[in-house]
Amino acid sequence: MKKLTDTYTLPNGCPIPCVGFGTWQTPDGETAVSSVREALRVGYRHIDTAACYGNEVSVGEGIRQSGVNREDIFVTSKVWNSERGYDKTLRAFEKTLADLGLDYLDLYLIHWPAAAHQYEDWDALNLSTWRAMTELYKAGRIRAIGVSNFLPHHIASLMETEVPPMLNQIEFHPGYMQPEIVRYCRERGVLVEAWSPLGTGRVLGNETLCAIAQKYGVSTAQLCIRWCLQHDTLPLPKSVTPARIEQNTHVFDFTVSDEDMKTIDALPYIGGSGFHPDRVDF
Ligand code: A2P
Repeated sequence: MKKLTDTYTLPNGCPIPCVGFGTWQTPDGETAVSSVREALRVGYRHIDTAACYGNEVSVGEGIRQSGVNREDIFVTSKVWNSERGYDKTLRAFEKTLADLGLDYLDLYLIHWPAAAHQYEDWDALNLSTWRAMTELYKAGRIRAIGVSNFLPHHIASLMETEVPPMLNQIEFHPGYMQPEIVRYCRERGVLVEAWSPLGTGRVLGNETLCAIAQKYGVSTAQLCIRWCLQHDTLPLPKSVTPARIEQNTHVFDFTVSDEDMKTIDALPYIGGSGFHPDRVDF
């Protein structure tokens, strides 16, 4: 990857820009509008949102205000946990499109797996949500479909369906690499996206990371984003601060050495969301 608009290719051939702009925890209203507009102004062409972020209307407005052609932007959203199942997923998709003010999505994801601690029939529920996603995909309403926060035991039955998930968006940052699911996805050609590549900001003060970043003359945030790319994952850094939004795009003019990659890979848990799909209470 040499620039922001270079792409990974999904299993169905669909190109996806290699860094996405994250909007989790971006407040709805002017903050979301202006940060999305700014991201598109400085060159991002991939915006990641979700119904549960509560900011889809503003994200859509930011896209329109940017003046960038719709077909030049890759837009992702996700079906929330309360909308699982075939009928509800179809309805949730229409609401997401209406809120964003778009007539198709590039990528639609199941936000979290239904899991055994909450549902006896969790696997059937995920399959029924997936059936709706598959139908929307086959009808041309979405260019690609996938999942988020799925571990191997959650995704396994979906991999056996007519249209297996093309991508899995998971928490991935220094100190939290989830090697088992990353390996599972890689072996099956499922692209891994990294949400909170900066550990929601909590890894940025780590001394080891700061020292390595300093060596390359970059910020710790840039180091984390670059480290994700060198692991062949697709980072989704979030910021509402114009200078940081731009800084996070400058990750193509340095390469982290193998030795430094290994040092970062060996870091113990530093911080992050603290969410685990088999334990969350939402
Ligand atoms: P803000 O949005 O106030 O600019 P993640 O993407 O891992 O969830 O991390 C997002 C957090 O990291 C936000 O608090 C964001 O702050 C902060 N952040 C994003 N980019 C940078 C940067 N380049 N330098 C410092 N903090 C950053």
